[in-house]
Amino acid sequence: MAHEVPGVIARGKGAQVELTTIVVPDPGPGEALVKVQACGVCHTDLHYREGGIGADFPYLLGHEAAGVVEAVGEGVTGLTPGDFVILNWRAVCGQCRSCRRGRPWYCFSTHNAAQKMTLTDGTVLSPALGIGAFAEKTLVAAGQCTKVNPQAKPEVAGLLGCGVMAGLGAALNTGEVGRGDSVAVIGCGGVGCAAILGARLAGASTIIGVDIDDRKLDWARKLGATDTINSAKTDAIEAIKSLTGGNGADVVIEAVGRPETCKQAFYGRDLAGTVVLVGVPTPEMTLELPLLDVFGRGGRLKSSWYGDCLPDRDFPMLTDLHLQGRLPLEAFVSETIGVGEVEAAFAKMQRGEVLRSVVVF
Ligand SMILES: NC(=O)c1ccc[n+]([C@@H]2O[C@H](COP(=O)([O-])OP(=O)(O)OC[C@H]3O[C@@H](n4cnc5c(N)ncnc54)[C@H](O)[C@@H]3O)[C@@H](O)[C@H]2O)c1
Ligand SMILES: [Zn+2]
Ligand SMILES: [Zn+2]
Repeated sequence: MAHEVPGVIARGKGAQVELTTIVVPDPGPGEALVKVQACGVCHTDLHYREGGIGADFPYLLGHEAAGVVEAVGEGVTGLTPGDFVILNWRAVCGQCRSCRRGRPWYCFSTHNAAQKMTLTDGTVLSPALGIGAFAEKTLVAAGQCTKVNPQAKPEVAGLLGCGVMAGLGAALNTGEVGRGDSVAVIGCGGVGCAAILGARLAGASTIIGVDIDDRKLDWARKLGATDTINSAKTDAIEAIKSLTGGNGADVVIEAVGRPETCKQAFYGRDLAGTVVLVGVPTPEMTLELPLLDVFGRGGRLKSSWYGDCLPDRDFPMLTDLHLQGRLPLEAFVSETIGVGEVEAAFAKMQRGEVLRSVVVF
């Protein structure tokens, strides 16, 4: 049996998204059908709509979601109808060279559903990040469902499925922030603010938020920044140094994705410190640095995909910390909206008015 449900698609490059009827198959072997309860609007959905990620239109958007398993296919173990899950885009294979070397967060062959969701005329949909959750129901690989404590609210838990995990993990996993470290975060949107929260959780004693928008700096302070810098008015590198005894921060996390902010991250870092690149650049961008500085200053330059997370390890733990009151993820939910309001949410995101708009069903 197939299910006809409302879903939000991007039909072509730059076209406004539309709410239409999509057809979701019953789960086959290794698959799960999920009733979506909430799905955050992430910058990556907008990148899809603008053709920045691929040309496999139409895309079924939405990928930052939580819901309840409705049915599972043959051979699925450890997942039953009624389970509360966060959807992930890193269902690791366990068999590629990275998984076999014990580094599954770099898995090169992650799982998605084998069957396709379609429009009612049979047109095959490409689900964003293999999820497609701006829809009442979606079909995923069973490994894309991570069970977490059902006491968490879906609109909050779902955020761990993408942007918030990317920021938390940039600090906790990739940057390996430790107790007493100084950390600077450049770009305090949803991802940067989550990095600030991650730095606080890890015990950083100085946390500097840098942005060109004072509204974002207010959010940064609420989420744990000890100091903030408006880099439209003040030189970011000098200001970071003066807040860290003239040295620069132990870890600088770049969450904008531009060459000039990458340079600020590089020079705002202490000798032998770590730069973590989280912001996604566009294909034409290049970064030029004196090689002697790259060599001579030592330390590490790392990029961070999905916060180097392992969903089954990290989602339940972070949900529990949230429920204990140690991770105020609810602060990221600027508004909840209906499934027909995704286009309006993109506009608010571009105007910088929200950390996250979350579609609830
Ligand atoms: N690596 C990953 O796994 C991953 C996952 C999700 C998102 N991202 C990327 O992270 C980046 C941030 O995402 P987001 O959802 O927080 O976006 P956002 O639009 O909410 O935040 C971006 C922030 O950067 C600020 N900014 C813009 N130009 C700046 C400048 N020159 N100096 C300082 N601040 C500046 C903006 O004011 C805004 O607060 C995006 O590039 C997104 O694609 C990466
Ligand atoms: Zn693998
Ligand atoms: Zn995302």
